[in-house]
Amino acid sequence: MIRSQGLRIGKERISLGSIDSTNTYALHLAEEGYPHGTVVLADSQTGGKGRQGRGWYSPPGKNIYMSIILRPQQAWDDKGALSILTIMAAVAVSEAIEKKSAIPVRVKWPNDLMVSDEGVFKKAGGILAEARFMGNECLFAVVGIGINVNLLRKDIPSEIIESATSLRLASSKDLDRSELMEGILRSFDEWYGHLMEGQKERIITKWKEISLTIGKDVKAIKGGKVIKGLAVDIDEDGKLLLQLSSGEIRRIDSGDIVHLR
Ligand code: BTN
Repeated sequence: MIRSQGLRIGKERISLGSIDSTNTYALHLAEEGYPHGTVVLADSQTGGKGRQGRGWYSPPGKNIYMSIILRPQQAWDDKGALSILTIMAAVAVSEAIEKKSAIPVRVKWPNDLMVSDEGVFKKAGGILAEARFMGNECLFAVVGIGINVNLLRKDIPSEIIESATSLRLASSKDLDRSELMEGILRSFDEWYGHLMEGQKERIITKWKEISLTIGKDVKAIKGGKVIKGLAVDIDEDGKLLLQLSSGEIRRIDSGDIVHLR
């Protein structure tokens, strides 16, 4: 296992104009041995990646696209590490946005960053964690963060207009992208420290405080089957616990959910 070299997140930065995907680029750099905490930033992406094989709309001049290389200090097995990492990232990024913009940010499981746009919660950001394993051991992870910062309504493609928004639309104010990015890196560094110190409970507690999902009836797809239930909790790895109408508790480890009410 490669151990963390104790570098602060963001001490090493690579700023690019346009790139296919900051995550793909950061994965290559990590393969080449770039250190823990290296951050790749881009003004636009031509092949931005979202979760579940989707794309991520990434026009220039408006948003934040960044990827952080992490080399965990403790051995991480592939079962829980990525789930808790994305939960941690969602907590860190929402806290930074709230501090810099005063916009309340909520999370939809596992890591959609949601803000109120004319009274309706819509997605203003997302997180994509990818990792390389040797056997069960995580060699490194890349956490990609995309935030719609200054998009106006006319900038949002019609396919996502119902579900997507921006911080600008939530607050009617343009935000300084580099100030926000600095805040995110600081907050990420702090929350990653908590994770490395084993303070999962603190991360989970904070995630639950800002969750839009807990307490909602949701629909999930697992193994090709639709499961409906009440979202009652997340476990210590950040997996979602659904209570079915039979009372049985089912654990949802990945994929998408739909909020039913
Ligand atoms: C999601 O689907 O919610 C995750 C979106 C993650 C997008 C970011 S933008 C920076 C980084 N590079 C990518 O290609 N994807 C992530």
